[in-house]
Amino acid sequence: MRPGPEGVPWWRDAVIYQVYPKSFADSDGDGVGDLPGIVARLDHLAWLGVDAVWLSPFYPSPQADGGYDVADYCGVDPALGTLADLDELLTRAHGLGLRVLVDLVPNHTSDEHPWFRAALAAPTGSAERGLYLFRPGSGPGGQDPPNNWQSIFGGPAWSRVDALTGRVEDGGQWYLHTFDARQPDLDWESPLVRERFEDVLRFWLERGVDGFRVDVAHGLVKAEGLPDWDGGATAMVMGGSAHAPGSDVVDLGPMFDQDGVHDIYRSWNRLLATYPGDRAMVGEACVEPAERAARYVRPDEMQQAFNFPFLQCRWDAEALRRVVTVSLEADGAVGAPTTWVLSNHDVVRHASLLGWVDTGRSPNGIGADDPQPDAALGLRRARAAALLLLALPGSAYLYQGEELGLPEHTTLPDDVRQDPMWFRSGGTERGRDGCRVPLPWQADRPGFGFGPTGRTWLPQPPEWAALAADVQRDDPGSVLWLYRDAIGRRRSRGLGSGWLEWVRVDDADPSGVLAFRNRDVLVVVNVGDAPVAVPDGRRVLLHSDPAGAAAGVVGADSAAWVDMA
Ligand code: GLC
Repeated sequence: MRPGPEGVPWWRDAVIYQVYPKSFADSDGDGVGDLPGIVARLDHLAWLGVDAVWLSPFYPSPQADGGYDVADYCGVDPALGTLADLDELLTRAHGLGLRVLVDLVPNHTSDEHPWFRAALAAPTGSAERGLYLFRPGSGPGGQDPPNNWQSIFGGPAWSRVDALTGRVEDGGQWYLHTFDARQPDLDWESPLVRERFEDVLRFWLERGVDGFRVDVAHGLVKAEGLPDWDGGATAMVMGGSAHAPGSDVVDLGPMFDQDGVHDIYRSWNRLLATYPGDRAMVGEACVEPAERAARYVRPDEMQQAFNFPFLQCRWDAEALRRVVTVSLEADGAVGAPTTWVLSNHDVVRHASLLGWVDTGRSPNGIGADDPQPDAALGLRRARAAALLLLALPGSAYLYQGEELGLPEHTTLPDDVRQDPMWFRSGGTERGRDGCRVPLPWQADRPGFGFGPTGRTWLPQPPEWAALAADVQRDDPGSVLWLYRDAIGRRRSRGLGSGWLEWVRVDDADPSGVLAFRNRDVLVVVNVGDAPVAVPDGRRVLLHSDPAGAAAGVVGADSAAWVDMA
């Protein structure tokens, strides 16, 4: 593996690639991606030049929430492979110089997890029920939920226990589920829950994983007494919060960002430190403002947290400048590197979001009847955004397929949708299936070479033929090559461990142009309309737009890296 500079842990400037296992590559032809499929395609990631892979959940799961409903934290779903396949994946990845992070889902289990099954079988007040948040209902006979919390996926965050057990004594008993009813929340006040998770961490650390992505990291501990809250569930949406980046006071309510969560990460930090090799945690902490989010990456807690305000930022120079500055300052104040991310499995792919005039919109999915993004504009901006992302100091997260410039599937038929958000919202939210469509590897093969039979668990848009990995590998002007070149230059120029200094490009309208120096590279990102000239006599290292490169300008919606050495 690439050695960091002496004493500097690898994750501080790493490029980390998110694999959503069901949709990466299928080895057995059932249309669902699997671990051997990933192993067979690891060479793509090594060629791309990333440092690490984060695997979204591959654990046994009834798939009520795409695998984020875990029925066994220490196993592999038979549809995705075996533990031996996972061991093989770790060995092969490490052999290629790639580190591997696995997803830890500690806020809730699946309703099919043996702990929840045992809790249902046991009586009210039992030790088994103590692992979860069972509570008596309110109102006559406990007929109403214990409080007014809403599920992130829509509807109440409580379900009745007797509906599951059929037992009279459970009448008036409810259990909490911040997400789907099939994802009961664990009670992190329970010492047993803490102990059991430390065992899960040890299990994977001993198998050789390099760390964890921690799901819903801001949600494990709830406010004492579970008080009512009138803010609804919308203050925290998937992949971020609904508030403007940099807003000062954000009350996420009694279910999120409670001070007690930090003790958990401190104890995990100590546990990771007992293993060799700079193991790391990255938190999905949807918390604002930035100073509050930075508490998750204090020196004795997690190593990183996702930068959701950056992911949600509008295509606007001032807004981008602000979110970059605020993130660097807030994380810098606690000695942590900032992370940068444009897409993940919970949000509309950025190549589509950027194809709208109003880039501030972040809908939960797009359907055939919705206004459709301009694909060419989205792709042009996505190329520029890649050069922004990969030029910033800190660590960058890529979501599978963004290196191909993949857009969202914006016309998925509703009858193939699987996201619980679609069902629980009664079809008002399309949900996240459109960003989870199986990857196109080979243009001229059925299912674009996703697997040997052409089956894919979600249909792929026909336009993806032109974006298939094999077509792009043969085209040095492709998005794929742009990512590869940018990752390579980022490494050779030390941009991940560099520092940012905002500058003015002389003839540029500053309201439309982001320009900064990172070490000896000048980065110009033009989100406005007026073209900017490349400084005289300077060599362009990378350009998102070949026509602009030829003309010596950075035009609208494009970006360049200029050599200032
Ligand atoms: C996280 C995951 C998301 C999942 C949710 C519940 O936000 O990223 O996919 O639905 O947690 O586990």
